[in-house]
Amino acid sequence: MLIRFRKKTDFENYLSLRLPAKARLGFVPTMGALHQGHLALIQRALDECDLVACSIFVNPTQFNQAQDLRHYPRTEEKDLQQLLEVGCQLLFLPTVEEIYPEGPDRASNPFSFGELESVMEGAHRPGHFAGVAQVVSRLLQIVRPHALYMGQKDYQQTLIVRSMLRQMQAEVELVVCPTVREKDGLALSSRNLRLKPEQRKLAPQIYRHLQAARLAFLENPLAFRQIEEQQLQKLSRLPDFRPEYFCFARTHDLKLLAELPPEQLPPPREVVLCTAVWVGQVRLIDNLMMA
Ligand code: PAJ
Repeated sequence: MLIRFRKKTDFENYLSLRLPAKARLGFVPTMGALHQGHLALIQRALDECDLVACSIFVNPTQFNQAQDLRHYPRTEEKDLQQLLEVGCQLLFLPTVEEIYPEGPDRASNPFSFGELESVMEGAHRPGHFAGVAQVVSRLLQIVRPHALYMGQKDYQQTLIVRSMLRQMQAEVELVVCPTVREKDGLALSSRNLRLKPEQRKLAPQIYRHLQAARLAFLENPLAFRQIEEQQLQKLSRLPDFRPEYFCFARTHDLKLLAELPPEQLPPPREVVLCTAVWVGQVRLIDNLMMA
């Protein structure tokens, strides 16, 4: 059975009255348009917890482009069906007013993420992570889970949330789950629905280039700059592709290898390769660990 809540007070009351004292509660925040990537998080949470709550909320404060927010896919009926099938027990579907009674304010940022906020996604989507932190912290205050499940697909987001949990002194375990991909390698994303058929055919090239770069890096880690440059050029030659960045970084803080002095270059097991590519009107991100 899937119990749905639209009001935060109803959800809070339910949890405080009905959650057994020793039950472990897992939480999976999403923006809906659910796919197997989301469902894998829920499945993992179901394996490890007594009760699992999912939220669907298209968070206005994390969109830095009005048209991205406007075009974000909304597939509520299908989402409900999938949640029922996977066995998720609780669903929180708040309105914008419910989460932001004072109105959504993109300027508000109660956390500080230092350089983590100004590289990669932070550099290209100003204010995005402040918006993510704002909504995840509000959701956590309502749900108060023991464990929070998030995907490695949004690697930088997991580091932001880890830092936010530290700043909130929240005792929530963050469980980062592997990226789920289509058979052809394309990382599942709600935004894939917006690709035109020709673009969809070429989109797996993003993962192929990440894999090629990984092999080249493992052969010669010191050549990372040339590898980044070559793969950026190759990606930009594909029709409709406009790569924004393609860079190697330290896994724990996303410090770019290109900005580190040679004596501080980390071993491959502490390196992640991240990319963002526009394919037509759709912006896709992906990443790969070097080891
Ligand atoms: P959304 O894009 O809906 O993703 C919800 C969760 O699913 C995130 O933790 C994301 O990393 C994970 N996810 C998405 N695609 C995945 C894939 N292919 N494999 C594994 N996990 C995947 O990320 C957000 O929403 C929002 O920023 C949110 C955290 C809900 C805050 O609004």
